[in-house]
Amino acid sequence: MSGSLEQFLTDLSRGLDRTMVAVNKELTLRERIKRTWSMRQCATFLGVSAQYLAKIAGSNADFPAGEYIGRERVFTLTELMHMRALLAATAKRPRDYLAWRKPEDDLPVISFASQKGGTAKSLSAAHFAQYLSLHYGMRVGVMDADPQSTITLYFAGGDGLPTLPDETMPTLVDFAGLFASEDAPYTDHSAEELNSFFQATSWPGLRLIPAHGETSEGEIQIARLVREAPAGKSFYRYLRDAIDRWKSGHVPQTDPGSLAPGGTVDQARLHAALNETLDVIIIDYQPALTLFQLNNVIASTSLVIPQTMKGFDIATLSTFVNGLRGMLQHILSHERIEIGTGANMLLPTIVQRSNGQDLGHISNLLEHCPTEILPVFYLRSDAIANASDVYQSVYEYEPDTPGKRKGINRFISNADAVNDAIVARLWPGLERGYAQAWMDDFYEDDEESVT
Ligand SMILES: Nc1ncnc2c1ncn2[C@@H]1O[C@H](COP(=O)(O)OP(=O)(O)OP(=O)(O)O)[C@@H](O)[C@H]1O
Ligand SMILES: [Mg+2]
Repeated sequence: MSGSLEQFLTDLSRGLDRTMVAVNKELTLRERIKRTWSMRQCATFLGVSAQYLAKIAGSNADFPAGEYIGRERVFTLTELMHMRALLAATAKRPRDYLAWRKPEDDLPVISFASQKGGTAKSLSAAHFAQYLSLHYGMRVGVMDADPQSTITLYFAGGDGLPTLPDETMPTLVDFAGLFASEDAPYTDHSAEELNSFFQATSWPGLRLIPAHGETSEGEIQIARLVREAPAGKSFYRYLRDAIDRWKSGHVPQTDPGSLAPGGTVDQARLHAALNETLDVIIIDYQPALTLFQLNNVIASTSLVIPQTMKGFDIATLSTFVNGLRGMLQHILSHERIEIGTGANMLLPTIVQRSNGQDLGHISNLLEHCPTEILPVFYLRSDAIANASDVYQSVYEYEPDTPGKRKGINRFISNADAVNDAIVARLWPGLERGYAQAWMDDFYEDDEESVT
């Protein structure tokens, strides 16, 4: 029967659209981030004691009001950012509360990449982005390089990007300038135009270049550009050059200590400062090693490779590592260019604690590549399915039954530890000790279970 696959896809697509209408509607109608955080949780994010924060709350007229749920006073993300501006204003080191880039600091571009599908790239990238916002008040740019648009789903909806992006919304393919312009085979957008491609999200200071079906055009456009070989542009430099152009037009201006003159936060100034630049860019990859992904690698200062720990997966990983190395060596033999000069690391994911083989692979890897492997990793969790089902991270997710709280809290501790370990490598000295505490606990338990 000819055309049967086409018919099948047509019917399935219609059915999926109808199913997604419900999702879209929910994303559009709901406040994206429903949850709030207690005074104690805010103190943890700010890196101060709960007593100290309570003292500030009692003595400062501009301290956010929050809301009372029973006897507990809780705060929104916007209020948490407000607290940061207040604390920074009187701090000896304002960047303790707003870890914002100085004008002379480089802009880290961190890619979560691997060739294999389903290795928790998107989950790791989304949780890292949100962690940096929650714990450091960083201004984070998230770039979705995957037409599946998984990380876009973590951020779409609510006051920022109101709904799932459609074909009219610019993607990373536009940002990289891969489409032909009237007079050139590609487009060098201005810094201002590039900045307009970032969409606001419900996370203050966190902006997103979303993905949709068009993102798969990236590969086609690069193939075209390789064929046309425009003068002055190498096929792997499109994103890198675009980020450089954006960066030179968005140098950090505002001193984080200057947002609350006279002890009152200047809202307009805070809002402008949250959007004037980015302190870090995070890219979530498609599971593939294509020329488009290569553009992302060349634009990155750091690569995080999330990888599951089955025998097959490690074999796939070798293919990816060798393939990527081959591409880089080819490029480096033609051009002297610095690539990935920040910290690069392999992050084991979805590790089954009770599975001796998983743990065996990790200890072998740690033995043979002690500095390349993160000794803190993501453990497999059943709780994550509940949060994933509503397109949320564990930071954002509020369980509907108290029974689910425990599993979510355990995953939050795990995510905090992983993210702290990544922070320690990217910004040495900025870590909070969650990674160390997790390792003390994990490896001690491990020893117990052996004896
Ligand atoms: N620690 C974990 N425990 C249990 N399930 C997990 C864990 N981490 C991720 N998952 C699940 O695994 C699936 C894949 O995760 P994710 O989408 O982050 O992977 P990915 O590498 O980005 O996938 P893709 O290659 O398709 O982009 C998701 O359903 C996610 O909820
Ligand atoms: Mg993904």
